[in-house]
Amino acid sequence: MRNKIILVALLCLLIPSVQTVCAQPYAPSSIKPQAVSKPVSSPFDAQRFQGKTVIILTYSIDNPRAGEAVGFLQDMYLIRGEYNFEVMGININDNRTDEVLKFNQQNGAMFPLLIQNKAEATKNLNLIGDLSLDIFNKKGELMSSVTVASIAQQKNLRQALKVYINRFIKMGFIPADEPVLGAMPPVPFFEAMAMDNTTINIKQFYEKNPVVLVFFSPMCSHCREELAFLNGLLAGTEFKDRFSIVAVSRHNQTVTEQFIKEQKIAFPVLLDKGNSISSLFPSFVGVVPVGYIIDRSGNIVSRHTGFSERMRDIYVMELRKLCSLPNKPLLEPKKYSGQERCQVCHEKEHMQWSLTGHPYAFKSVQRKGKEDDPACVNCHVTGWGKPGGFVIDDKNDAWILEGVQCESCHGPGYEACSAFTGIKAKKKTTEQWKVLCLSCHTEKESLNFNFSRRFPKILHSNAPNLATMSREQRIKLLSEHKPKSDLFSNPASYKGSQSCKKCHELEYAQWSTTAHAAVGQSPEAIAAMPDKKYRFTTGSGSPGGGMLGVQCEACHGPGERHIKEPKKKGQNYIVGLGGSCDNCVVEQICRTCHGPDDDPNFKFEKYRETIRHKPKQ
Ligand code: HEC
Ligand code: HEC
Ligand code: HEC
Ligand code: HEC
Ligand code: HEC
Ligand code: HEC
Ligand code: HEC
Repeated sequence: MRNKIILVALLCLLIPSVQTVCAQPYAPSSIKPQAVSKPVSSPFDAQRFQGKTVIILTYSIDNPRAGEAVGFLQDMYLIRGEYNFEVMGININDNRTDEVLKFNQQNGAMFPLLIQNKAEATKNLNLIGDLSLDIFNKKGELMSSVTVASIAQQKNLRQALKVYINRFIKMGFIPADEPVLGAMPPVPFFEAMAMDNTTINIKQFYEKNPVVLVFFSPMCSHCREELAFLNGLLAGTEFKDRFSIVAVSRHNQTVTEQFIKEQKIAFPVLLDKGNSISSLFPSFVGVVPVGYIIDRSGNIVSRHTGFSERMRDIYVMELRKLCSLPNKPLLEPKKYSGQERCQVCHEKEHMQWSLTGHPYAFKSVQRKGKEDDPACVNCHVTGWGKPGGFVIDDKNDAWILEGVQCESCHGPGYEACSAFTGIKAKKKTTEQWKVLCLSCHTEKESLNFNFSRRFPKILHSNAPNLATMSREQRIKLLSEHKPKSDLFSNPASYKGSQSCKKCHELEYAQWSTTAHAAVGQSPEAIAAMPDKKYRFTTGSGSPGGGMLGVQCEACHGPGERHIKEPKKKGQNYIVGLGGSCDNCVVEQICRTCHGPDDDPNFKFEKYRETIRHKPKQ
């Protein structure tokens, strides 16, 4: 067991200059960068933490929630490869090593662990109490820090920590109170005494009018702005008596009372005594402000964390929609607006889009640690190089244009949306669409992009019928958003490695020494369930395919036409992987068999070196 747990000490490398980059409510105000103790033992793989987002859980095994927290970290450990981050545990029971290792084993924990004394850990991290979580960005700067006691929603700690982390590592975790593809969860019921001693029954409120429920702290400036804004809407003519606000203060009575008086708050305010209200909301993890919009049937229509200029427009459009008021799009007049705004009115298109690979395109570059490389992001974001489009390192809400969004295909909203411009734009021809697709789906980056096969996948009218689907089915559909396309849409048939040997002796000789050549007869192959057989065969399901082992054509595509005309290049011929974008095409091929489910520890950068036919020059 012991050798599975790598003992590391690397915070010295990890934190060259620690500073707080986000003003989170629980972020520490000052952290002193310090070298920590010497490596407890080798092997010692500090390299892997450099240039990566790192999640650190500090814990004592005496904390009653430590098991859950360790379980959470283990869950993160298993998916770290897919999202390009690293995790480590720091245990502070330094004189009880055996007990600690046993505890980790019982909780299935395999992540790298450093055992330190509490004083050392406290010196280097924002350790308050004996269970806390710190997140460092690629540059080694502290992004956020949370003590578990401060996470209100504690009933299911493992889940709450995932919600929390999801803001930094967008792994698409969906808490139970979050709308999914049009399935809106019911708002948890509560009844409580407001500060003015009236009883607030949430059901009575939403049955009358749509409700905006806001969790806030009087001390937080964004919260004050949000409440002042909503208060203003309620007082204005457009929304007068059309919706209700219920606010839940996370602060004490005195502070909250003063706030109400100062701000001339005209709506009921409750106190979240003992987290009694917030703990009903799985998506609430102590960060404020959070606003939930609830319709007249008591369903959560949307949830908003934080507050900004952009949020004002979104609130107004969402409320107009719920109140059936005229709803002229509020879009950026000169910039790209972002899909969140389009979603308010173009729900159907948005749902279909969510089921394609496009929304998640930024994650792919993040996974490669290339989110600040202009050579990579250009095709993986919205409006690259265009006025008001995505820019790297813009602290000002740049993330809203991550991924290939509506405006990547339709142009910026201020030109594309006829409800905004008042002019109906001419529809593009199929040929024009093709030109647009090929501007990103180049031969180099998109293996055999076959327009006529891929175009139907992005057509909004081809959305599956969601109406009959349960919430769970919709979540499942979302998680499968990456439809496995046939990477080699190639009319040739498979011929087997033997047929390549006489012309490619060198490659053949090298390939014969790899695990791939032998794997067809391996015990794993024989034991594999039918739905996993494809991992041990080449071209299964295609003409001439199905032979055992990972042969040449598993990576290069079917060879029949190539053998006949070796010099011919292009879509319908062999795929030469040498000059192509390593990251996009080659990895996609490997991932068909070394995906996160089948091979969670697959390290593309490392493994591709071992399968190279000749040493890299
Ligand atoms: C407040 C509601 C609203 C928002 C927000 C909105 N739209 Fe629209 N959009 C409409 C309506 C309504 C129409 C149809 C107008 C019509 O039929 O003349 C429309 C039309 C369109 C059309 C043309 C449809 C056609 O048949 O020609 C496109 C494309 C479009 N919107 C894209 C967008 C994009 C992209 C965004 C986000 C940046 C967006 N819209 C935001 C309401 C909205
Ligand atoms: C701004 C660049 C861009 C444009 C324009 C674009 N795509 Fe993509 N597309 C991408 C990227 C990047 C991905 C990979 C997403 C990921 O990282 O998972 C992708 C993925 C896809 C996928 C999912 C991959 C698969 O087959 O399983 C399909 C289908 C697709 N695009 C079709 C199209 C079509 C059709 C068009 C034109 C109407 C188009 N795309 C326009 C960048 C673009
Ligand atoms: C010319 C546009 C373009 C550029 C530049 C580009 N990509 Fe891509 N990338 C794409 C497209 C299009 C796809 C989708 C390929 C497909 O499915 O056919 C893609 C797919 C990917 C994928 C695979 C997603 C999956 O299916 O898992 C990764 C990873 C990736 N790109 C990373 C990168 C990195 C890293 C760089 C910079 C070295 C980069 N890309 C540069 C267009 C581009
Ligand atoms: C990969 C490219 C692509 C992306 C991304 C995309 N669309 Fe479209 N959209 C299309 C194509 C292609 C059509 C035209 C379909 C047709 O002509 O049948 C279309 C049609 C539409 C229409 C109807 C207008 C019309 O001309 O028929 C609206 C509205 C629309 N899209 C909104 C959106 C919104 C909102 C999003 C983002 C949530 C989005 N689209 C994302 C490619 C895209
Ligand atoms: C009759 C001889 C011959 C046979 C058989 C043959 N090849 Fe080739 N192959 C060639 C030649 C010649 C080239 C170089 C073509 C060029 O770039 O001009 C080549 C190039 C390639 C390339 C690089 C293509 C590129 O675009 O960079 C790959 C990959 C390849 N072969 C794989 C295979 C595989 C896999 C097989 C077995 C299914 C195979 N070859 C069978 C002669 C052959
Ligand atoms: C596991 C995937 C994989 C298998 C299996 C595989 N190759 Fe390759 N091959 C690659 C990759 C990746 C490259 C790109 C260059 C590199 O990394 O060496 C490549 C490059 C080549 C090239 C040179 C292309 C160029 O432009 O330089 C030829 C020829 C080739 N392979 C032939 C074969 C033959 C013949 C076999 C079977 C005996 C085979 N490959 C098996 C992945 C594979
Ligand atoms: C058709 C499926 C398939 C494809 C495609 C494929 N592999 Fe594999 N690979 C396997 C299987 C099966 C094994 C045996 C070990 C296992 O079960 O994971 C294996 C083993 C390996 C090993 C040896 C690992 C070890 O633990 O000894 C490496 C390295 C490897 N693959 C790299 C790659 C790379 C890099 C690519 C892409 C260029 C690739 N593979 C593409 C199926 C595939």
